[in-house]
Amino acid sequence: MAARLVRRCCWRHFAAFVSAPSAATAALLVPPGKVPMPRALPQAPLALFHTSSPPDWADGFSVKEQVDDGRNPEYKVIGELIETATSPQELFQLSELHELNSNHASLIITQISRLASEKKLETENIVRDERFQQLIGIMDSQISQVWNNTLVNLLKSLYSLGVPSSRREMQSVEQEVLWRLRRLTFRQLASLAEFLAIRQGKDNKLLNEVIKKLELRWTELEGTRTVVTLMGKVGHVSPVLMDRLEDKALELAEHFNPDETRKILLALAYQNRRCVPLLRALSYHLLQKHAELSLSILLDLVFAYGKLNFHQPQVFQKIASDLQPHVPAMAPMEVTRCTRSFALLKWLSLPLFEAITQYALDNPKQLSVAHLCGIILSFARLNFQPSGSEDFFNMVHEELQGQLGSLEPQMLTELVWSLCVLQQARAPYLQRVLAPEFHAHIRGDQSLKAQNLQLKLIHINAAAKLENPDYKGPFLPPELLSTVPLASERVTQLQSCLREALTGLLGSQDNGRFDVRTLYGWHIDAEMVVTSENKPLPVKDFAAPHLLRAEGTKPLPPGARRVAFLRWEFPNFSNRSKELLGRYAMARRHVQAAGFLVVDVPHYEFLELKLERQRTAYLRDKLHKVMAKDMAS
Ligand SMILES: *[C@@H]1O[C@H](CO)[C@@H](O)[C@H](O)[C@H]1NC(C)=O
Ligand SMILES: *[C@@H]1O[C@H](CO)[C@@H](O)[C@H](O)[C@H]1NC(C)=O
Ligand SMILES: *[C@@H]1O[C@H](CO)[C@@H](O)[C@H](O)[C@H]1NC(C)=O
Repeated sequence: MAARLVRRCCWRHFAAFVSAPSAATAALLVPPGKVPMPRALPQAPLALFHTSSPPDWADGFSVKEQVDDGRNPEYKVIGELIETATSPQELFQLSELHELNSNHASLIITQISRLASEKKLETENIVRDERFQQLIGIMDSQISQVWNNTLVNLLKSLYSLGVPSSRREMQSVEQEVLWRLRRLTFRQLASLAEFLAIRQGKDNKLLNEVIKKLELRWTELEGTRTVVTLMGKVGHVSPVLMDRLEDKALELAEHFNPDETRKILLALAYQNRRCVPLLRALSYHLLQKHAELSLSILLDLVFAYGKLNFHQPQVFQKIASDLQPHVPAMAPMEVTRCTRSFALLKWLSLPLFEAITQYALDNPKQLSVAHLCGIILSFARLNFQPSGSEDFFNMVHEELQGQLGSLEPQMLTELVWSLCVLQQARAPYLQRVLAPEFHAHIRGDQSLKAQNLQLKLIHINAAAKLENPDYKGPFLPPELLSTVPLASERVTQLQSCLREALTGLLGSQDNGRFDVRTLYGWHIDAEMVVTSENKPLPVKDFAAPHLLRAEGTKPLPPGARRVAFLRWEFPNFSNRSKELLGRYAMARRHVQAAGFLVVDVPHYEFLELKLERQRTAYLRDKLHKVMAKDMAS
């Protein structure tokens, strides 16, 4: 029926055109898909038609009727012509041929905008075109008649085409949308919000109104796509809406496909929203579905978990093992990205990291210095020593040679610090960052960043002193060692239990020193001096080369040893539960190299003991063991 009507009206129009039997003209009038031929119209004959076209073009149809009756055949033809037009010129010519109503004008503007963005056309000239201005005029003359959906698309198109918001017509479209907000469907509101959030930014007035409506009407929210889109594109503008979206996503968790799951996780990560129930649910369903995940999804997932510091061992295991076969074909950027994400998560998958090492060995020329630094920093964080360590570091030293000067001071410091962790910092690295001209610029800088940098330099200085006997300097000057920032962390359960138990062990306060800040930049929970018969001595009497200012001067009596108690909390370990992260492994090494016997007090043993008496006995037993072991060696 509709097709018949269309055909009839086409014939009627066609008859008017017999004077110009151009196939192209026919294409304009035949329903879409019927005549595949060039659509561009020659300018001259068209102008001719325009003037000579019969006045009964819109014969019998008032603009009002056309708007009211969508099934109107003439209206339908024009709609189809607009939809199938393939260039703005064609659309302009349509507007010259037909008497348009405000709805048509809006549709044409929308189609022009769509074509402009699809074909990457220069919009400035289009907007300046007189015929475009006429379209805006027609649209504006009866804006209240434009259909809802068309109106929403119109507004987006005007923004996209860069029509300035200061124009009166633009403001009247915005106003019209604002008035009609209540009557728009949830889907229309959502699409408008998405568009405005991206194009116009957070402070757009209309956007804020749209979001208020979405917040009020959130019960109408349905379908995974809308939830995902709103979360990703609009959530950051409204925490209230984001709360609702998270609730809804939790409800729908089972139905998201991997790509949607990725988008939600990224949205949460970028907005720093650690919504634990949702993260759990998404992880659960990810594992249940056993879906094959693409490389880009795997990378985004591990990035999001890392950013949110959300631990989900089974998911990590899956991601790590799914990623591993992809490694040889990855781009350098992807390799560093996934290495860094796993490092952030403190998750060391040996097979994956071995594969990454092999990748670096196979592609040294493709890896930039920044990529290489990213890999080394990650290895250091996890204290990962590749099995082919020598080959790997030979390559690293070769690639870094002569490139150190190109690194930012911060990156260079991080790099050398990481090489210290991995026990690979050779003299040229140390010299570069310990040289006076290098640290001159952070002196006196009180920012947190500078303080962290300084602490790392102190650690590097310690590595140079304690672990590199051949290194001859320069070293940091003493005044730089003293300004260690005092981290004010809350006292942990392990800390307070350790303190109590130590009191029992020491007998007298004089026999111990607590919370010791060494000039190596490391912090010792407690230290004591013990005779070979395990008898504590008053620590303050003795010279203490690990301190900036020692109260005592006496050398240790023969056979006596210094003992450090180191408290290891959950966050000091990597996922391999009993393996220290690189930073803490280095701390332990340095404390030992500074002449201490180390008594490790890991949370997983110490907090198992319920009574203070048991804890004191535990410490005493450990102390005796390290002393005995030392004497045996
Ligand atoms: C469109 O808006 C009108 C008011 O302009 C409203 O009455 C109508 O319900 C809406 N229709 C649709 C389909 O959105
Ligand atoms: C740590 O990660 C590795 C690699 O995925 C895994 O094999 C191991 O079981 C994990 N360890 C713990 C304690 O979760
Ligand atoms: C272990 O980590 C905690 C912070 O998480 C820190 O306070 C403590 O000093 C670390 N332990 C050692 C021995 O460095």
